[in-house]
Amino acid sequence: MPTYADRVAPFGTTIFSEINTLAQQHNALNLSQGRPDFDGPKVMLEAAMDAIRTGIGNQYPPGVGIPEFKQAVAKHAQDHYGLPIDWETGVIASAGASEGIYSAVLGVVNPGDEVILIEPYFDIYLPAVEWAGAKPVFVPMRPPEWRFDEAELRAAFNDKTRAIIINTPHNPTGRVFDQEELALIAELCQKYDAIVIADEVYEHLTYGDAKHVPISTLPGMFERTLTVSSAAKTFSVTGWKVGWVMGHPDLVTGAWRIRQNISFAVNHPGQWGVVKALELGQSYYDDYQAMYTRKRQMLSDALINAGFKISEPEGAFYIMADFSDLFDGDDVAFTKHLITEAGVACIPPSAFFCPEHQSIAHNHVRFTYCKRDEILEEAMHKLAKLG
Ligand SMILES: Cc1ncc(COP(=O)(O)O)c(C=O)c1O
Repeated sequence: MPTYADRVAPFGTTIFSEINTLAQQHNALNLSQGRPDFDGPKVMLEAAMDAIRTGIGNQYPPGVGIPEFKQAVAKHAQDHYGLPIDWETGVIASAGASEGIYSAVLGVVNPGDEVILIEPYFDIYLPAVEWAGAKPVFVPMRPPEWRFDEAELRAAFNDKTRAIIINTPHNPTGRVFDQEELALIAELCQKYDAIVIADEVYEHLTYGDAKHVPISTLPGMFERTLTVSSAAKTFSVTGWKVGWVMGHPDLVTGAWRIRQNISFAVNHPGQWGVVKALELGQSYYDDYQAMYTRKRQMLSDALINAGFKISEPEGAFYIMADFSDLFDGDDVAFTKHLITEAGVACIPPSAFFCPEHQSIAHNHVRFTYCKRDEILEEAMHKLAKLG
């Protein structure tokens, strides 16, 4: 009997489905998925609903995205980072950052190329690289600081390197790459004529002195960077799947040729909503950061009180917590223990490493704090049972 293709064989059911099922069986508090349990800005929600009510958003939009959406993305990039994005040729809409990343990889990477992935990596990067016929080359970040080693990164680059996928602010470690790290990546990409695919979905979420610097703003990098972002995290609409890919038109064209042959067009009412969201002023981002700063504190206190060791995130909305003082076993075993004993669900991060590097994170689990305060308080009480 015919069955599925070889290319999907290595990407079977993940540990995450098993964890989700267990979490549901135990009615556990879900601090695993990076999915806010509250709504984003009202003007954005209203604009999407208006687009449905008036009918302007109910049919296929232009495949690349509606002009208003592309203009809003380009203006946002100019206003926040001084990036000279051409709204007509330098931006396309995508079904979330996920489809944007897939299109970017397939659109610029050739079979036989090498693509560097920094670990822990967001899980969809690997199938995209493999389905492009390329070879993934892994460079790990290690706890407790979660930085990559300069010599290891240098050694990963060679004449076959076509691209590196970076994510900053970073899921799951909360790292925000500093100038030194970005400059090193930029230097190596220029030396080996490689492209950066920059996943910046947490671009507006940094804390304290950490500052998000898009790598495309570094000298010589605009021409060799495809930046991918989305409304999901910044505007708390993970269900809309509205994202974008932007950069130099020559690279964006590659992503577009893939995208137009997958989904052709992107959520139309959602694009109208995100146009309004992208028009929001600085006070929106100030309030957003203040809200997440408070939530970060709540979850950090809860984890420390329960006996975890943590390094405070500089960005995004996750905490990698070291449980080695609480439990003797690996991250998957601890995740199951936490669900059954404390009723709290988290993510075992070893799945974000290649098999040779999985032990780097075997003492850690990832929690998210993109949840209502009352949920975080309840989590604090439940976690306290562990001690
Ligand atoms: C690093 C990273 N990239 C991409 C995504 C997916 O974004 P979207 O929902 O816009 O596809 C996520 C979602 O968790 C993420 O954490």
